[in-house]
Amino acid sequence: MLDNILSIETSCDETAVAVLSQDGCQKSELVASQEYIHEKYGGIVPEVASRRHVEVLNFMIEESLEMANISYGGLDAVVVTAGPGLIGSLLIGLTAAKTISYCFGLPLVGVDHVVSHIFANFYQDCWSIRPAVCLVVSGGHTSLFLIDENENMRCIGRTIDDAAGEAMDKIARYLGLGYPGGPLIDKLSVKGSPKAVDLPRPMIRSADFNFSFSGLKTAVVRTVTKNPHLIKGSALFDVLASFQEAIVDTLVSKTIEAARFHGAHQIMIAGGVAANSRLRERMFRECSKEGISFSSPPVKYCTDNAVMTGLYGIFKLNRGLTDDMSLDAYSLFKDY
Ligand code: KG4
Ligand code: ZN
Repeated sequence: MLDNILSIETSCDETAVAVLSQDGCQKSELVASQEYIHEKYGGIVPEVASRRHVEVLNFMIEESLEMANISYGGLDAVVVTAGPGLIGSLLIGLTAAKTISYCFGLPLVGVDHVVSHIFANFYQDCWSIRPAVCLVVSGGHTSLFLIDENENMRCIGRTIDDAAGEAMDKIARYLGLGYPGGPLIDKLSVKGSPKAVDLPRPMIRSADFNFSFSGLKTAVVRTVTKNPHLIKGSALFDVLASFQEAIVDTLVSKTIEAARFHGAHQIMIAGGVAANSRLRERMFRECSKEGISFSSPPVKYCTDNAVMTGLYGIFKLNRGLTDDMSLDAYSLFKDY
């Protein structure tokens, strides 16, 4: 068994490092968020994100090795996110991983960030029911994956424009609430009524498993422009709760539909938006009604972290899928 697998994740604005053993046991895990830096710009500034990764990554690797009680010589393999994400940010993690792999003669494993989110569901054990459908919903992606008995993962639907988290971040920014918008909307929606404002559920009845959130975003802007009283006082909570409900309705409905169509016995959710309390509650309720098992990662493993990256790396190592020094970063979503 490999005792110490170093995992590095720098796809966006979080620098994350972990050391895991091959059985998935977490020996150390660190996440340094850059939220407080990007907050003042109302969104992520790629150049700033890369520079911050450079500043903190080496220290974080050293600290995580110390926490795991090993030195570089005690490592057995290195896992790193290769994409999709911000190219500048990805290259920082990739360069560190390749350097460590080269200097210490360690196997190198590059993993896909979107797929690695699914692995946040496997953080504790390998308890699984197949076939399963997993909704990966974050700031950069909204996709549905079908996982079969052989653990093959196939993308069966995706957003054709904005990701759900991106729509939340943009609406929060438009309303002057701050960044990131998802957690703020989650918190403030509790004070409002999800039925107060009539908003569309784009593509909810389309004959595929794709999503669209761009039109919903425009509908919110149009509604509050026509009715400026809606952003004053407690009416704002109603707008936020209704907007969140429109997103949750669409995500839940499409995921359940996909599970029915593919005969899935389990639904999983993953990605930053999977931390949303209303989505977790509604998906759990709908799965119970359908008699489908439901799995969601702990909230801290929904947003970007290196534990899920490491778990996907172990999955690939177990299948002999390693990379060489030609491993390159990629920015766009890969179709699986
Ligand atoms: O997975 P993640 O950390 O990064 C990407 O891969 O994109 O997801 C970040 C996204 C942001 O859009 C953020 O607003 C959203 O996840 N998010 C939430 C919540 N927590 C984070 N959205 C809704 N409710 C939340 N509680
Ligand atoms: Zn992510």
